[in-house]
Amino acid sequence: MSLYHPSDDFVARSNVSGGDARRDLVARAEAAPEKFWSELAESELHWFRKWDAVLDESGAPFYKWFVGGRTNMSYNCVDRHCDTWRKNRAAIVWEGEPGDQRTLTYQELLRCVKRFASVLREQGFRAGDRAIIYMPMVPELPVAMLACARLGIVHSVVFAGFSAEALKTRILDLDASLVITADGGWRRGKVVPLKDAVDEALHDCPGVRSVIVYRRTGSDVAMHDGRDAWWHDLDRGASEDCPAEELDAEHPLYVLYTSGTTGKPKGIVHSTGGYQLQVSMAMRWVFDIRDEDTYWCAADVGWVTGHSYIVYGPLLVGTTTVMYEGAPDFPEPDRFWRIADKYRVNVFYTSPTAIRAFIRFGDRYPDRHDLSSLRLLGSVGEPINPSAWEWYHRVIGGGRCPIVDTWWQTETGSIMISPLPGATPLKPGSATFPLPGVAADVVDMRGNSVEPGGEGFLVVRKPWPSMFRTLWGDPVRFQEVYWSQIPGTYFVGDAARKDKDGYFWVLGRVDDVMNVSGHRMSTAELESMLVRHEAVAEAAVIGVPDELTGQAVVAFVTPIQGHEPTDELAAELREWTAQQIGKFARPKQIRFSDALPKTRSGKIMRRLLREIVTTQTVTGDITTLEDLSVIDRLAAQQGSD
Ligand code: WTA
Repeated sequence: MSLYHPSDDFVARSNVSGGDARRDLVARAEAAPEKFWSELAESELHWFRKWDAVLDESGAPFYKWFVGGRTNMSYNCVDRHCDTWRKNRAAIVWEGEPGDQRTLTYQELLRCVKRFASVLREQGFRAGDRAIIYMPMVPELPVAMLACARLGIVHSVVFAGFSAEALKTRILDLDASLVITADGGWRRGKVVPLKDAVDEALHDCPGVRSVIVYRRTGSDVAMHDGRDAWWHDLDRGASEDCPAEELDAEHPLYVLYTSGTTGKPKGIVHSTGGYQLQVSMAMRWVFDIRDEDTYWCAADVGWVTGHSYIVYGPLLVGTTTVMYEGAPDFPEPDRFWRIADKYRVNVFYTSPTAIRAFIRFGDRYPDRHDLSSLRLLGSVGEPINPSAWEWYHRVIGGGRCPIVDTWWQTETGSIMISPLPGATPLKPGSATFPLPGVAADVVDMRGNSVEPGGEGFLVVRKPWPSMFRTLWGDPVRFQEVYWSQIPGTYFVGDAARKDKDGYFWVLGRVDDVMNVSGHRMSTAELESMLVRHEAVAEAAVIGVPDELTGQAVVAFVTPIQGHEPTDELAAELREWTAQQIGKFARPKQIRFSDALPKTRSGKIMRRLLREIVTTQTVTGDITTLEDLSVIDRLAAQQGSD
């Protein structure tokens, strides 16, 4: 396989310039990790008080970083830049789906953040309180996050594609007292009615005492007296005197829910000090950020990629972050390229699913635009297949832009395995090597490193600054799921291979978590949602390979007696999924069956279902199957798309 090398000019100008520079960083981090991170923490960030210890391992796996240090994310993202030439630099360049535009300089962003933070303070919210943010991709979304961070209010952003039901679960789990939302947002020319969903969710959430509503679409919404207020009304009298709280380095910054292997989403808890540091370093090492750059991560702030690489990372390093509200194919499939051209974007970061969708639309859409400002491309969320990589490199990158294939997770907080673009020769489809200071490895069941060329489990052997600290309200599950498989080692949940040159190839999940369009979904969560429907006796959900979305959801459903397995019922179950979780989780296929393949102990054999869907037969071991005839009946059936 041919290697892709960066141009000499790219190498000469990059932050980590050449392979030796990278190896030197890696060696220094390995030799003295605490010294390595503490020197960076000092040069990268503002601290109101310096830490007493870099790393406290005494309560492992509940590690603590920069113990005793005091800092503030909002201060580091905004205030400190306003004392420099960056004051009038664009912090956020935003475009709404209908085509409206706004630019906020760092100074303007600071004023917005202070005003909104003082509104929250006036309402009596304090450090440690929890806020849910359920907003469209408008600049007020980062403003709300930064205002919470300023006061130490723990925020949890709920992706605006989630339903009222999913929103309710998160509000209750977090015991939030504040919800920040909007009347709606634009998606493919239609209004997504966010406030209506909040009202529905809040029927069962008595702990929420305040709802702040940003007016985005102008649509009619109900406002509840004594609970709801318009953002613009509150802003009118807001004070700009609202200094950033001097928070403990370990103060929780946010909780982000993600799917695990059970029916209940996990609240991933991130802290302040270590998270700031590693996210900031990734901006420099991986995205190679330069002062003149315009940077665009085309994810949604509702997922971790948006937290770390639309909001916090870019603002920490004082770059210009582009934000786009709507769908990539609205009004036409060239919207991304139009935006990249218009704002002269230099660094662009998206997902393999998006890239594959663009390949389908055809080259004529990028060909309409001048993409010569791009110098670096990124990919995240799922393995990128080499042919999509090649297309991205050739058609979007004009053959001149390195691609950083970044592997990481909601749990890791920041990028863990990735090329450094001016230092790592690329192999399409490989995330290449762990970043400096990241002790990732591929191991067997007992935790021994696999031989070059071997496959195994991806793990991280040592704590890293941006690691999640616990699961909200469930420290036992935190220990069990992540730290007990191979004691003392972080168990990622992905399979990987290391080739003879030491390159990492991430192969996908080893547990019952699916990855659909780069979004994590749990088979158990979808199954328990389906069996809550009155017509469903039993359900088994699997992920099958899909050309466009990486994986697609197929649900096997056994109806309760008296309910017919009709197309209408399939449609109803899809609608039910949209209501219970969100439209994005709707199964691609629903297959009805009077029984499911189970072991004698009653465990559904998903492996067999997967085989039936992909090959229409079963070849693997079926000796543990309780009823052999189930297989033939399932294989004979056609799915309903
Ligand atoms: C997968 C998204 C291969 C992986 C940042 C991981 C990847 C899960 C890559 C985390 C990549 C993410 N190559 N697989 N570059 N990036 N993954 O929490 O299975 O939404 O465990 O975080 O996505 O998904 P999450």
